[in-house]
Amino acid sequence: MTISNILLEKLHDKSLAETSGFINGKRINEAKSGNRFDVFSPATGERIATLPDLGSYETRLAIKSAYIAQKIWAENTGSERADILRNLNDLILENLSDLAIILTAEMGKPILEAENEIKYGASYIEWFSEEAKRIYGDVIPSQQKDSRILVLKQPIGVVGTITPWNFPNAMISRKIAPALAVGCAVVSKPSEYTPLSANALAILAERAGLPAGLFNVIPSTRGAEVGLEMCHNQKLRKLSFTGSTEVGRILLKQSADQIKKLSLELGGNAPFIVFADADLDAAVDGLIISKFRNAGQTCVCTNRIYVQAPVYEIFAQKLAEKVKLLKVGNGFEKDTSIGPIINENSIKKIEIHVADALAKGADLISGGQRSSVASLFYEPTILKNATREMKIAQEETFGPVAALFKFETTEDVIQQANDTQFGLASYFYARDLNKVWQVAEALEYGMVGINTGLISTPVAPFGGIKQSGLGR
Ligand code: SIN
Repeated sequence: MTISNILLEKLHDKSLAETSGFINGKRINEAKSGNRFDVFSPATGERIATLPDLGSYETRLAIKSAYIAQKIWAENTGSERADILRNLNDLILENLSDLAIILTAEMGKPILEAENEIKYGASYIEWFSEEAKRIYGDVIPSQQKDSRILVLKQPIGVVGTITPWNFPNAMISRKIAPALAVGCAVVSKPSEYTPLSANALAILAERAGLPAGLFNVIPSTRGAEVGLEMCHNQKLRKLSFTGSTEVGRILLKQSADQIKKLSLELGGNAPFIVFADADLDAAVDGLIISKFRNAGQTCVCTNRIYVQAPVYEIFAQKLAEKVKLLKVGNGFEKDTSIGPIINENSIKKIEIHVADALAKGADLISGGQRSSVASLFYEPTILKNATREMKIAQEETFGPVAALFKFETTEDVIQQANDTQFGLASYFYARDLNKVWQVAEALEYGMVGINTGLISTPVAPFGGIKQSGLGR
């Protein structure tokens, strides 16, 4: 079996479910090692696909072909590259339903969220197709009368991307769109949990007219080996990684010898602050998105919720009412709002965080255990009276657990919110304009959402500071 009927029978265009790798426009059905790996549905545990387990040998081949293809691609005009990216955007939207089905099958998120992710991913392709025509340089007055200085922007060359399972489509789109737009070529290593979404994108890129060798896909469980090859291969000039701080640190060290350019979007520990003057209903709605999107499995998910003392109880009540409406279930059921957790280790971490919080004095308001749906489902959970000594305050939980901390003053909450090695996303709700400016500038985060729980968009820079990453 390479692809299961459970998935195939749901698809309108079955050819989008592809189980090979892609190198230089060719399907790679066998790894040199002969190894293969399985992809399982986290919702049901069923095996949905088997793929060749590619490694450093295939990564090297892909980089070599990308290196040759990139030189020709870069000779095209921005408009020519834009046309192909625009075709890709259109094809993604035409195949929205199938792409969402593949995504939900392999990582479990509710089908409506999957459709939103596909649109979100396409929005990067669209945005950068437009930017492809606007790669302006500068003309600088020279220190000499008879000359002018020109600054030209040139494509960096071959770019490696390593992307996670939580946004199997959009994280790849966000990386390949700017790279292809400016004339680079890409070698992409998707998560071993979600290679089918990457392959579907590669098929659509081919149909959009993207020449062979510009978007290569390396399905692999051997992330360390593929990452090492990307870091050490001189033909690969930039690496863009989204994932844990731990792995980002390894890639950074490995890239030091070659001074390789890196973009790293790493772990977060996002604070969500509710001031007493906030619109509490809006804050609850924003929190539901920011905390429970993708069952709490996003790098920008809220992890610590700070509520000012005078509104603490009423906010907790309002939140509990909304959380009751969240339905845990298989992502293919239309009314599901919380899908499965990706694997056993991740759900165990959630259990450890909740047990630790309860042992250290937190109060359980709802949830607090695995759901009866199946083994990888966790109930949306609210904890009150969380404190900074708890694991949940220090580490990213990556699950549907809302931990409420109480605070008194603005100074105190800024200190607590910044008391972490991470600095990716942060959020706060307030009405007082002076406070809005003060807090927005005092939060040590790459991104600050003010009176919103959703900050992701192609039109704004995305990235962290401190140990949450480098680059945008
Ligand atoms: C992430 O979780 O890494 C990305 C989330 C987003 O783009 O909104």
